[in-house]
Amino acid sequence: MIIGILNQKGGAGKTTLSINLAVALKRADQRVLLLDADPQGSALDWSVARQQALPDDTIECFHIPESDLHKRIEKYRSDYDYIIIDGAPRVTDLARSAIIASDIIVIPVQPSAFDIWATEEIVDLIAEANQLKNIQACFVLNRVTKRAAISKKVADALSSHQLPLLNSQLSQRVRFAESALDGLSVFDYPDKRNFAADEITAIKNELLELGASL
Ligand SMILES: Nc1ncnc2c1ncn2[C@@H]1O[C@H](COP(=O)(O)OP(=O)(O)O)[C@@H](O)[C@H]1O
Ligand SMILES: [Mg+2]
Repeated sequence: MIIGILNQKGGAGKTTLSINLAVALKRADQRVLLLDADPQGSALDWSVARQQALPDDTIECFHIPESDLHKRIEKYRSDYDYIIIDGAPRVTDLARSAIIASDIIVIPVQPSAFDIWATEEIVDLIAEANQLKNIQACFVLNRVTKRAAISKKVADALSSHQLPLLNSQLSQRVRFAESALDGLSVFDYPDKRNFAADEITAIKNELLELGASL
């Protein structure tokens, strides 16, 4: 199964979600490949940092920021249970290729007007690709602060796109930012109550359910 984490907007949380989802799936005994489709190579940098930090718990990562990714990815498909594409912002050709490559697309979006409006670009590209191939896509909220106060408004705003919004979401947490710096995921801490890890696990489970229905 190929999961594309995509949004044309930079800073939406694509890399944060990609790397943590990769670790979540690996911890669930799945064979996982992280595919960094962003020329910036942040997921690759993270995987290299991880190799040094946790040499016994690495995440395999290839950097393929190319517009023929959908063709190149096919040869990896049979070697992995899940391939996670960490998408590039802005570049339309890269987005088109990543969309075509994916079985499920997750669009992380911050609950602000500007971020919600900016999703139009990726939604339009997905609609275009849907004419060639049936693609399941959904939104997931990231960096949520006051859940109750805004969630209905945000859900209403996103619903105009007719893509589902996952029930699970990621809160604004320093842990997401600081873990990545050291090549870690939110799972790599001994906390008794690990809220960040619980959020990623919930998203993983919801995605696996979606995937099972494909
Ligand atoms: N839920 C979150 N809580 C705190 N910081 C976050 C969260 N999600 C993302 N960030 C931070 O926001 C910045 C942008 O996130 P990133 O995953 O790199 O976005 P993208 O890959 O879409 O450009 C990074 O510095 C990241 O650490
Ligand atoms: Mg990124």
